Amino acid sequence: MMMLAIVTGKSFNFHVIETLQNATEGEQLCREMSYDGLAILSSPEMYNYALTITHTLRASTTRGMYIGLKASTTRGMYIGLKYSPETAVTHWEDGTLPAADTPWKDATVAQEEFGLLFSAGLLRMTKGRYHRYALCGYQVQGSTAVGQQPTGVSSSLSVATAPSYMACVLLCGRDNQCRAAEFNSDLLTCILLGPGSYSGLTTFPSGTTFLRGGFQDVS
Ligand SMILES: *[C@@H]1O[C@H](CO)[C@@H](O)[C@H](O)[C@H]1NC(C)=O
Repeated sequence: MMMLAIVTGKSFNFHVIETLQNATEGEQLCREMSYDGLAILSSPEMYNYALTITHTLRASTTRGMYIGLKASTTRGMYIGLKYSPETAVTHWEDGTLPAADTPWKDATVAQEEFGLLFSAGLLRMTKGRYHRYALCGYQVQGSTAVGQQPTGVSSSLSVATAPSYMACVLLCGRDNQCRAAEFNSDLLTCILLGPGSYSGLTTFPSGTTFLRGGFQDVS
């Protein structure tokens, strides 16, 4: 008997901006590159992944770089942590509150507006004025149907090659029409499906299908 599994969760992707800019400029650059904004590292997986992909850059950063006439520092990179003075709450940009075991640099978290992944990997809050690197991110929410593929497919948005299921999920996240993505681990193909373009799911051992969350029903 085939084991079928549906796993619900968030997938994420990050992009490192290797130029130096202040926090608001970093955030804007991320948006211009069609990321949600600065990266949210709210879960252990997100944080651990961010540590891995930023390792070289964090290790190479030094204090006391000068940019133009302004003393600046490349230490650390801006991430999507914010402090809202109105509510006096430090939160990730998607509204989630930092977990109790968040690896803060300081015992008392500064009430400053922008978050930073510091050079050694700990998190801290700053004013966001200094020019630093930035880490962009975006998330896509949905479920994973393992060993299943869509059935009754009437049309597809696109067919691409993808090295992994995760890459296929991210392709779906980048297309606002995408509602499901079928990854085939034998062919390494990723088929994106639009709203109403399939009727159900059927067992298929080398298939993994991403089912994106739809628009919230407010009717
Ligand atoms: C970043 O620089 C821009 C342009 O100089 C400025 O408008 C903005 O307020 C700065 N942001 C921070 C957080 O200092």
